[in-house]
Amino acid sequence: MAFPQNRGRRLRRTEAIRAMVRETSLSTRDFIFPFFVVHGRGVKREIPSMPGNFHLSVDELAREAALVSGLGIPAVLLFGIPDKKDPLGKESYSERGIVQQAVRALKKELPDLCVITDVCLCEYTDHGHCGMIIDGRVDNDSTLELLAKQALSHAEAGADMVAPSDMMDGRVRAVREALDEKGFTEISIMSYAAKYSSSFYGPFREAAESAPAFGDRKTYQMDPPNVREALREVALDLEEGADIVMVKPALAYLDVVRRVRESFNVPVAAYNVSGEFSMVKAADRLGWVDGERAMLEILTGIKRAGADIIITYFAREAAKLIQEGRV
Ligand code: PBG
Repeated sequence: MAFPQNRGRRLRRTEAIRAMVRETSLSTRDFIFPFFVVHGRGVKREIPSMPGNFHLSVDELAREAALVSGLGIPAVLLFGIPDKKDPLGKESYSERGIVQQAVRALKKELPDLCVITDVCLCEYTDHGHCGMIIDGRVDNDSTLELLAKQALSHAEAGADMVAPSDMMDGRVRAVREALDEKGFTEISIMSYAAKYSSSFYGPFREAAESAPAFGDRKTYQMDPPNVREALREVALDLEEGADIVMVKPALAYLDVVRRVRESFNVPVAAYNVSGEFSMVKAADRLGWVDGERAMLEILTGIKRAGADIIITYFAREAAKLIQEGRV
């Protein structure tokens, strides 16, 4: 039946009716909030390119994480910024490393909060690459051992879940084996399975001081035009033992999120990355878009595309609106 019997506008007439037929809704449980941890005490320094996000020392982190948890957000993702960087990223697997300290503090003060750690070398290496450099190239196999050590040290500190983001081949298996060998069979892995070589990581690299000192990440991160390759990467990570698979970035890759959602029966996470966040903030400041509406539209779009979990710097703002019943 078509017009005039059928009129789509009938179901858009009032907010009550629109709410009744709404197909996608956001929940505070959908979100993971990322944090950047630094050494020191009482440090809370705003990251200029990411308004409302901070470099936090462990004491401040505990306070901020309590607020996040109080908003009904179930999980946080930790990135560490070490004092000293070196070619091997030694602090990344040190018992006294910044992330390890942060994990211990959070699990002590907020035992119910799910603490996830980013596993990668780029924040810790002086060259800023995600793997070891041999003969001027990022070497795959020698990197695996360092990643496994790092993941294990996070588990020993009490992390609930580790999230390898380096895009080396075989890292999920290396991490799974290292964890299992030491009895951490119940610690889960969220793999950055389809992670693209993207311009949208710009503000993060400023925040983590992790821009590569030479070259780029194109030999390990994926080529943006590819989607079949993403499905292969996801399949391999699942075979290697990933529990949750992630697509990153989210916005320019919603088709990838959808394809992964339809092809695999595991939880799918999408990372709404720093550049996607900062663009909205910048445009809002300029008065060019309504930042709050843009945020909700973006998060809803990511969920509608099929993401079960959204890692986002908007988590706190969005959760507040949801709690106040304004969404
Ligand atoms: C580390 C890592 C990056 C991000 C998450 N983990 C940066 C990169 O690959 O250069 C980006 C997150 C963001 O932009 O919000 N490998």
